Amino acid sequence: MQTISRLGVVGCGLMGSGIAEVAALGGLDVLVAEGSPEAVRSGRRRVEASLDRGVRRGKITEAARDAAVARLAYTDDLDGMADRQFVIEAVAENREVKTGVFAALDRVVTDPEAVLATNTSSLPVIDLAVSTQRPAQVIGLHFFNPVPVQALVEVIPALTTSPDTVLRTRAFVSEHLGKEIVQASDRSGFVVNALLVPFLLSAVRMVDSGSARAEDIDRGMELGCAHPMGPLRLLDLIGLDTAQAVAESMYEEYKEPLYAPPALLRRMVAAGRLGRKTGQGFYDYTA
Ligand code: CAA
Repeated sequence: MQTISRLGVVGCGLMGSGIAEVAALGGLDVLVAEGSPEAVRSGRRRVEASLDRGVRRGKITEAARDAAVARLAYTDDLDGMADRQFVIEAVAENREVKTGVFAALDRVVTDPEAVLATNTSSLPVIDLAVSTQRPAQVIGLHFFNPVPVQALVEVIPALTTSPDTVLRTRAFVSEHLGKEIVQASDRSGFVVNALLVPFLLSAVRMVDSGSARAEDIDRGMELGCAHPMGPLRLLDLIGLDTAQAVAESMYEEYKEPLYAPPALLRRMVAAGRLGRKTGQGFYDYTA
């Protein structure tokens, strides 16, 4: 089996930057692609700020940070992915955008054995697989936020994914990224979001109906069930736009009212109150 040393990460937002950071710390040569020079600059800042924070908090040494920075390269041109052996797509949770990235990667990546993975939370992996000429090498690889902290990665073979791709992906995740694996079938939400999203949306409905305040709902779950953060703080961390997109895909798949994005979530997204990343969501982060 070919050793994987050259990773591509497409998208350097919250998830892509975390994946790139973990992979570079794991010793991989990582090329990160973003859509524009400005997006490349902010993606790079995000990765480097997180590595610096790791040094400040005593998680990694300065030498480890410097080595990781040296293993990371950035581009605004997907053609740069040509020599990659494994590529993880982590762009916005939007079917058209992701399909476009997979079709482009299929044209560009020269190694016929390369694995093309998607970090989708809820879209069918098969839709991305069939947008390429190599559906046997396309697989779901779902990370959790913050990527450097959360130990889990869900591995999701599509109907077309070969057993060899699954084996190589599992080995790659545990050996190079040091993450634990849960394998799930290609059903919207996989294991974790299928359980988590209805819980988060129920908390939004509780705020909307006026039956409890956001602070009390969060305190309830933090102190009553030992969750590290309550559901509304967690929505602010995930991003309300991402949560809405995930809920929409899950609702489309199951037609189950529990997955339907509540009106308050939609209104907050429309207002640009997306959570931490915009400074306001269920809580204010501007201070
Ligand atoms: N990078 C690296 N380390 C980080 C970090 C980051 N971005 N954020 C926090 N940490 C580390 C800190 O260094 C700290 O480590 P130590 O305790 O060893 O010093 C630890 O995590 C705790 O951090 P803080 O003290 O700053 O803050 P906290 O105790 O409030 O923890 C949290 C923050 C890690 C986010 C924690 O609240 C948590 O785990 N929350 C739940 C997150 C969760 O459920 N994520 C899944 C979301 S669902 C998803 O991602 C999937 C999807 O498809 C939507």
